Amino acid sequence: MSERERDSAHGTSRTIEIFDTTLRDGEQTPGISFSLEQKRTIARQLDKLGVDVIEAGYPIASKEEKAIVQSIASEGLSARVCGLARVLTQDIDACIDCEVDLIHIFVPSSRIQRDHTTHMSEEAVKEQTYAMTKYVKEHGFACMFSAMDATRTDLEYLLELFKTAEAAGADILNVPDTVGVSEPFAIYELVGAIYRAVRVPISIHCHNDFGLGVANSLAAVKAGASQVQVSMNGLGERAGNADLVETVMSLSAIYGLSTNIKTAYLFETAKMVERFSGVQIPITKPIVGENAFSHESGIHAHGVIEKSETFEPGIMTPEMVGHRRRIVLGKHTGRHSVEKKLSEIGMFLPREQVDEILERVKELSAGGKKVTDDDLFTIAEVVTGEVSKHERVVELKELSVMTGNNLIPTASLKAIVRGKECCSAQMGVGPVDAALKAVQEVIGDEIGGCIELKDFRIEAITGGSNALAEVIVGVKKGDRMVTARGARDDIVMASIEAYVNAVNRLLQG
Ligand code: KIV
Ligand code: ZN
Repeated sequence: MSERERDSAHGTSRTIEIFDTTLRDGEQTPGISFSLEQKRTIARQLDKLGVDVIEAGYPIASKEEKAIVQSIASEGLSARVCGLARVLTQDIDACIDCEVDLIHIFVPSSRIQRDHTTHMSEEAVKEQTYAMTKYVKEHGFACMFSAMDATRTDLEYLLELFKTAEAAGADILNVPDTVGVSEPFAIYELVGAIYRAVRVPISIHCHNDFGLGVANSLAAVKAGASQVQVSMNGLGERAGNADLVETVMSLSAIYGLSTNIKTAYLFETAKMVERFSGVQIPITKPIVGENAFSHESGIHAHGVIEKSETFEPGIMTPEMVGHRRRIVLGKHTGRHSVEKKLSEIGMFLPREQVDEILERVKELSAGGKKVTDDDLFTIAEVVTGEVSKHERVVELKELSVMTGNNLIPTASLKAIVRGKECCSAQMGVGPVDAALKAVQEVIGDEIGGCIELKDFRIEAITGGSNALAEVIVGVKKGDRMVTARGARDDIVMASIEAYVNAVNRLLQG
């Protein structure tokens, strides 16, 4: 078995090169245009990430594009900087002017693309490939040759074309699945055939039209490819290119192959490209999506709190990729999640209070609200500040309010005051005023004496019309003054809760 064979398909000792095309194919995503400064910043970040090659652009496209490629090539990055060119001298000259490290020449090779784009015969494509590969090499540059639309090119002809480029001195041959129509088994066969036919390294460039970009790239590596062409956040023509993060993590965590990527920078790089491109990363995107390491359901969160591998891959952790694990509160939340989050801020509460908090979290999220940590902590403060059930003088049972532009705001309520059921209906200047008057009436009737309202403040904990409202109320009877809080997504309920809590405290003992 030759050294190359040993080193190939199933070997785990290989280091796979990462060729990033975010700035070239990625920028071809409809609607995306990076500024010079953004491209330079992304290039530096990709370099910090450890990519082997940065395809900086297509210099012949415009004066501006050429200036950008030139500028990135002069940055002194550790990554090799690559420029794209058709098999035309003027394109190659533009790359030469930019002093890139690698010139990537491409030519349509499939029948459909030859007939309808370049109108070149098979023979003409071969001749031009030979001549232009030589041209690049004679100018002292490294050369990558791509047979565009390779996966739809007649295999026999494709092999001849690659051999032609190899004979002319190409340093690396690229196999583009230009319209993303291949699948892993076909790619494995194709790359395997090319691998057996030539001696130079093979690169793979997969588009994601059927969502198979990453799977196809992995199959190519299995078949002997030593470089993968990928982009950040999978940006690229149409459905994009194989995603860098997913490809790298699959190569290392699943296949046990190495790359030069410092994976702890993956998340921040994805976020930078998200910001500059304006293309939002979906929450469910593998590895870098907001939910990639988030857990809400009681069983999952409980398992993960005890041992993360219960409901995470384990071979990949959030720390490895610079992300974070989140326990999310919602309608599926369980007691363990609430206890864990509260323990992080030093709150260790009795079971009865945790259950009360949990019930309120579920109520809040059932109304469609996203429950934030701040919401949880506010609810916890309210619940822990409440007078215990058996010491309460006043217990609110039912409250309804009516308001509108042609109505006088009216509230009616039912409460238990010192064990006795009481009802009241009141009007007010607004729904909160009406509800407060109704509570004051039932309390006043039962306990006598005057309770003065001294302080009343409303605060929204989080933004949005469904924000959790926190109300702080101060009440006074004689010389004694107490304050208490209420927190609900309904502002009237939060106000009444705060008032009742304050009264209970005032009358406690
Ligand atoms: O998809 C493609 O074929 C390309 C080539 C330029 C490599 O992007
Ligand atoms: Zn492409």
